[in-house]
Amino acid sequence: LVTEVRLRRVLDSRGNPTVEAEVRTEDGGFGRGAAPSGASTGEHEAVEIPVDEAITKARELAVPRLEGQVYAGDQRGVDSALRGADGTSDFSEIGANSAVAISMAAAKAAADVLGVPLYQHLGGAFRGRNFPIPLGNVIGGGEHAADATHIQEFLAAPVGAPSVADAVFANATVHRRIGEILADRGIAAAKGDEGAWAPSIDDSEAFEIVAEAVGAVADEVGFEIGFGLDVAGAELYEDGVYRYGDETKTPDEQREYIAGLIEEYGLVYVEDPLDENDFEGFAELLDRVAPETGARKAGRPLICGDDLFVTNTDRLERGIEAGAGNSILIKPNQIGTLSDTFDAIEVAVENGYAPVVSHRSGETEDTTIAHLAVATDAPFIKTGAVGGERTAKLNELIRIEANA
Ligand code: PGA
Ligand code: ZN
Repeated sequence: LVTEVRLRRVLDSRGNPTVEAEVRTEDGGFGRGAAPSGASTGEHEAVEIPVDEAITKARELAVPRLEGQVYAGDQRGVDSALRGADGTSDFSEIGANSAVAISMAAAKAAADVLGVPLYQHLGGAFRGRNFPIPLGNVIGGGEHAADATHIQEFLAAPVGAPSVADAVFANATVHRRIGEILADRGIAAAKGDEGAWAPSIDDSEAFEIVAEAVGAVADEVGFEIGFGLDVAGAELYEDGVYRYGDETKTPDEQREYIAGLIEEYGLVYVEDPLDENDFEGFAELLDRVAPETGARKAGRPLICGDDLFVTNTDRLERGIEAGAGNSILIKPNQIGTLSDTFDAIEVAVENGYAPVVSHRSGETEDTTIAHLAVATDAPFIKTGAVGGERTAKLNELIRIEANA
């Protein structure tokens, strides 16, 4: 039985306050979870509210429904208590930030009681054998860095890596190699919110540099490394057109542009190529670039909906109906609880959509998503390439793999 739920404000990677939750149980279980935070958030996401308000409201409304009321191991019970306490569909009352922190802390307390790793509690006895391929953000801009690329993320994708550890190190090597190429070209670059290089260059130069770096590192390590993108199309879309600085593209031009990039660079993954409400556009793009796979057989390239689906089963079902994409980004804080997150993954897998578990641009040391990816056999995890709040997850994957 949950005996205590504590909430406090802690720092996230951008230096903003976020919600941390601790759950204790009567048999000595303890779990701690912290909410991440997005910058290029989708308009249909569950709502993050100011931290102090989220904590006050959760203490007042949610904690009394948890302490002495539910078992930490009854994740559905914990999460429906959170939903009941909130009373809205988007967690705008207690905040998705409080909800997700408590939901994750409860899962960890339950794993602690059982004396098993979190991925095993979440996934059962037979999980922990299939590991996700990490997508590593190596160059980026958009909402994550000022005066950098228009496309938000260029992601190294070490699809041929024999192990998670090899993949993690390959991504870090691509990141380092890009730093060297930028230096050789005399281009100064800081890092964006997710640790990617954020040079002030055209997207076309970024493609050139990333292609060169992944090619060189693939030769070095001896396995296939592709790359992919998070276009974050909703952030570019304004008044019916996609804006790249002074240049604009109509939706048809945007779709053709992305199809051309997939062909030219053999992209293995493209997230949010179009606006967050353009289900038909996602379907047309998938038909255009991967007619042989279709939505029901997740193949290459993955056309992934992040802001399109926001980890929401209703939106995913609408996408399945429309044939929109063949992959869904999974972010627990977009929907607010682990139960809802699992439901989204289940609907995705049943319908041939590849789930890609993801961090947010604002992160903490919390490693829940590493366990979530292993527990659900997710084929990919997107959690950066370098930087402590990113390596917290990557190193946890290395540990899980080493101990499995
Ligand atoms: P966010 O960006 O966490 O700032 O929303 C990540 C993404 O768009 O995938
Ligand atoms: Zn995204």
